[in-house]
Amino acid sequence: MRSLLVNIDHVATLRNARGETVPDPVHAAIVAEKAGASGIVFHLREDRRHIRDEDVHRLRRVVKGLFDFEMAATDEMIKICIDTKADLVTLVPESREELTTEGGLDMKKVREDYRKRVFPQFKKAGIAISLFVDPEEADIAIAAELEAEAVELHTGTYATADTDARRRVELDRLRSAAIQAHELGMKVNAGHGLNFDNIQPFLDHVPHLADISIGHALIADAVFSGLENSVRRMADIIAE
Ligand code: PXP
Repeated sequence: MRSLLVNIDHVATLRNARGETVPDPVHAAIVAEKAGASGIVFHLREDRRHIRDEDVHRLRRVVKGLFDFEMAATDEMIKICIDTKADLVTLVPESREELTTEGGLDMKKVREDYRKRVFPQFKKAGIAISLFVDPEEADIAIAAELEAEAVELHTGTYATADTDARRRVELDRLRSAAIQAHELGMKVNAGHGLNFDNIQPFLDHVPHLADISIGHALIADAVFSGLENSVRRMADIIAE
């Protein structure tokens, strides 16, 4: 069954912009789960630009659904992820310069390191592994060979495609990748750049989907679904 995982990183970005305690990403996680999210995903980055270590521990205490820890496979992150007993780890490439995750893992490059160093630690800890991959046949095959429980298909190229023809090509690639991953026995997760405009064609075209991670579009939409109320409340107080 398909379900929504809400990525709360951007709530932390807003908090950190002012060095304040609000908006609190943990509060966002509680609201998201109450509203129907089946779990929460966050990316603890090496530079801690949004989510911080203490957020992870606080989130672990309140999240009731799936606790999906997105991270680069560094020794530091592996230790934090195992210590917090995440339900799922989503491994992504990470570079300091990027504004957001820019693409799937280079599976050929990480294959041996993951096999020898990374997978054994998560397997021993009983944490399921999802690999963030581009919808490429060779990458999905390596994910299966490593015995990943899931792949998260990178939907960013679909989301940024600027013509109908390109969008169709990307949807076909995602569809083939989803079928391949499913036939190889892996769960098919997906995410990056999905929003209220592009989600329906994606759902209509791509089978076997499980957890779909969405962050930026939800936080962006929430500003405008909430701003009117907030301004009215404050204007009423001031006018009284
Ligand atoms: N999945 C992964 C692996 C990501 O890195 C991100 C962005 O943090 C998302 C999903 C969510 O993407 P967006 O914020 O564009 O919805």
